[in-house]
Amino acid sequence: MSTGNTAELTVYERIGGAGPIDRLVEAFYRVMDTLPEARDLRAIHAPDLTETKRVLKLYLAQWMGGPADYSAERGHPRLRARHLGFRIGTAERDAWLACMARALDETIEPADARQAILAALTPLADWMRNQPEGRN
Ligand code: HEM
Repeated sequence: MSTGNTAELTVYERIGGAGPIDRLVEAFYRVMDTLPEARDLRAIHAPDLTETKRVLKLYLAQWMGGPADYSAERGHPRLRARHLGFRIGTAERDAWLACMARALDETIEPADARQAILAALTPLADWMRNQPEGRN
């Protein structure tokens, strides 16, 4: 771990890089598999999450300032467009964030980085909604 000024480190570096992101994504889908309020959210995902996990790990590593392997492989994220095929309302957004909050608590140190990650993911998850207001 670098001893430099933390303000100069990326979030990716602060949390410890690829290992913690790997554990975060594994925990995220494990929670999604078990949390009752995430049952509908889990149901819109593929039964086999191997590829989904691999891609989310690449995406989050890049999003946190790590290697740009996601874009190298898949081009511009176009994340909202990629989600248009799934029905995402308020309930799905909230369930997604609930799974992520638990997974972060289980796997990511330090606490302030964990909180910063969740705070930054919250508007991103909200932006992924594609159902009219008032529904769900
Ligand atoms: C807000 C609620 C969200 C829902 C309901 C949702 C749902 C989904 C679903 C169903 C898939 C397809 C995976 C599969 O078929 O197994 C997917 C893929 C993916 N999601 Fe989400 N998602 C949400 C939010 C987010 C957010 C906030 C991010 C980013 C941090 C994200 C990142 C991704 C990525 C990177 C993929 C893979 C896309 C690709 O193939 O390139 N999702 N999501």
